[in-house]
Amino acid sequence: MITNKQSGTNVHEISDGIYRISTPVTFPGGGGFTFNQYLIAGGEPLLFHTGPRKMFPLVREAVAIVLPVENLRYIGFSHVEADECGALNEWLAAAPQSIPLCGAVAAMVSIEDLADRSPRALADGEVLPLGGHTVHWLDAPHLPHGWDCGFLVEERTATLLCGDLFTQGGADLPPLTDSDILGPSEEFRQRMDYFSHTVNARMLLDKLAATDPTTLACMHGSAWRGNGKALLGTLADSLAG
Ligand SMILES: [Fe+2]
Ligand SMILES: [Fe+2]
Repeated sequence: MITNKQSGTNVHEISDGIYRISTPVTFPGGGGFTFNQYLIAGGEPLLFHTGPRKMFPLVREAVAIVLPVENLRYIGFSHVEADECGALNEWLAAAPQSIPLCGAVAAMVSIEDLADRSPRALADGEVLPLGGHTVHWLDAPHLPHGWDCGFLVEERTATLLCGDLFTQGGADLPPLTDSDILGPSEEFRQRMDYFSHTVNARMLLDKLAATDPTTLACMHGSAWRGNGKALLGTLADSLAG
């Protein structure tokens, strides 16, 4: 469903009760990109990624299609960058019951200072029930980038909110696909070098794979459905190659 005709911002349910909000951006010289946020619409709704600050009105409009914005309880994100949490304070103002949700490093290094309210900092493996959904946090320092990086897994739907992993370029991609996303994302990685060169990549990808995800909620490009464990393993091989 398109929620803003001008920007093309759209919303699709990619797992039971989990909505992908996506805004496409096209570049003057050709090509494009998408900025996605994921809304887990349980009893205690969680928005994962705020979108860049300048996109706040578009993302707010899209969230409001699914649930009242002021009902949001958690504003979560993978790591500190504009597209992940640039609109954090705008969300905290729009949803008075909400608090930031992030890993312990992001809380300590940035969010206690940057955010208008103190965060709930999750430890590696810590579980957070959301009413109808349950997430747990996995630390993933420097994968693909950011000391503070980590991801959420929604357990009932086996959805890995995988942030910048499997980033695909392009503005006109399907919301959810079961076709190859590794090829396009590896092409993007070669071009943009957005992965750190951590020696722990395989260990961290093995940790993510152990959750056996069947949906990968990518922040840029299509979400993906399939054997996530196998795909994460193939990414580890590709990074090592
Ligand atoms: Fe990032
Ligand atoms: Fe991102």
